[in-house]
Amino acid sequence: MKHYPIKRTFLYNLLLLVVTAVSADAQTTTPTPQWRPAYHFTPPKNWTNDPNGLLYLNGEYQLYYQHNPFENKWGHMSWGHATSTDLVHWKNLPVAIPEIITKDTTTWIYSGSAVLDKNNTSGFGKNGKAPIVAIFTADQPTQKKESQFIAYSNDGGLTYTQYSGNPVIDLNKKDFRDPNVFWYEPTKQWIMTVAMVDEHMVRLYGSKDLKAWTKLSDFGPAGYTKNGWECPSLLPLIVDGSPANIKWVLLVSSGGDHGPLMQYYVGDFDGITFKNSNDASKILTVDYGDAFYAAIAWRDAPRNKNTLLGWIQNGRQETYPWEGQMSIPRDLSLKTTADGIRLIQQPAAVVKSNLGEISAGVTVVKNKVLDESDSPISGVGNSNSYWIEAEVLLKAAKNAGFKIVQNKLKPDNDITVGYDSEKQELYIDCTKAEKNNKSAANLIQRMPLKPVNGKVKIQLLVDRSSVEVFGNDGEQVITTQIYPEVLGTGAAVFGKGSEMSMKIWDMSK
Ligand code: FRU
Repeated sequence: MKHYPIKRTFLYNLLLLVVTAVSADAQTTTPTPQWRPAYHFTPPKNWTNDPNGLLYLNGEYQLYYQHNPFENKWGHMSWGHATSTDLVHWKNLPVAIPEIITKDTTTWIYSGSAVLDKNNTSGFGKNGKAPIVAIFTADQPTQKKESQFIAYSNDGGLTYTQYSGNPVIDLNKKDFRDPNVFWYEPTKQWIMTVAMVDEHMVRLYGSKDLKAWTKLSDFGPAGYTKNGWECPSLLPLIVDGSPANIKWVLLVSSGGDHGPLMQYYVGDFDGITFKNSNDASKILTVDYGDAFYAAIAWRDAPRNKNTLLGWIQNGRQETYPWEGQMSIPRDLSLKTTADGIRLIQQPAAVVKSNLGEISAGVTVVKNKVLDESDSPISGVGNSNSYWIEAEVLLKAAKNAGFKIVQNKLKPDNDITVGYDSEKQELYIDCTKAEKNNKSAANLIQRMPLKPVNGKVKIQLLVDRSSVEVFGNDGEQVITTQIYPEVLGTGAAVFGKGSEMSMKIWDMSK
């Protein structure tokens, strides 16, 4: 059966959805190039889920990822590996940490993080060269056990040696996973956040050498607790652009009511405890769509950027010869709003500032007054891979926005990405094109968005099988998966009476 990796905790909800989709073990072998993203990461072949071990090293973004090296479905979990200097073009490298199979045990390499141990606190360094240390969950399916392991690399992250003293943390638990580690200078120690899945808690540990870990504190339960917590990480973020004003954000993934959910908590961290600034009942969501999950940020990125990468999932169609893709990397910051301090997410500056180079060309549209209901957009290319930055002056229009994946042969089979000025919501309406691929609850996805001086800003990133919509410079985001037909590549704007300015990059290069 097709395996959706928010396994145990979320599995039951998903099973209900999946039952209609694919029959047992019937894996497709029909290539689906029309769904292979052009500017989002996918493995060359076979399965991926969570991003792992995101580390910026010697001018390169290291990406490890949950990978099945043998099949196009979840299993044999190992760390796949790729590097990039621009977060768009990836150099694919051999599997960095393979599953461990011994006579008595299979150990799967679940999610985790990687650090450059600059001062060789671990002692794994060689010939004066700092080691890279990966910290991850060892999942032993037959023992029904998860514990935390470390492994080190002396060749710049290409290959890893398992530490002979593993596990470094073992609570004899079945669901205890996804360690994320960073260096905390004030107390000069490594800090780990790791999920106590069924307790809906994040446990914090400290270590001087990455080998011996001491419990510091627990956070939670708080916020959304209906499903098991996974992939926690803690990040210091700048508030309102002022570097002296730092708040910490704790990110947690879990199944939500209608699919994957990523929550965040804003608070303070004193080296021991994360203190939530909001009431424990407050739920803040990273993404309003049904597809963004297990995101973590690159450690040590230039200019102290915290750039988040998530796995886009929840699709019901199979793709071949790969399955699973990453989101557009997002630069994170915090902003004080009338409701409190909120997360701002922008497509990474590294990518955005380079669009001219990466794209096949840009088209600029200024103050286009929309006088008919559908007005085709030129400049999107012909393969559903484009990036639009738009400002919509709403005027009389109640609804304005985009129609995408239009197919001349099936005129009534498109997706609307629109703004509803009465409800003050941005929405993706997939009721026509994706009715077999999404649960009824997810056919229309919405996020709140207030106009500023009668205008809304929409960044629309379409990349063959994904749609990401950022509202008002990253105040809110919706990510979802789509499976357009080969001929469904047209795009148009609509919203009679509104005025639109746009920049459109054809990303099909
Ligand atoms: C999240 C997750 C993690 C786990 C990994 C296994 O999608 O379930 O909790 O480490 O995937 O592939």
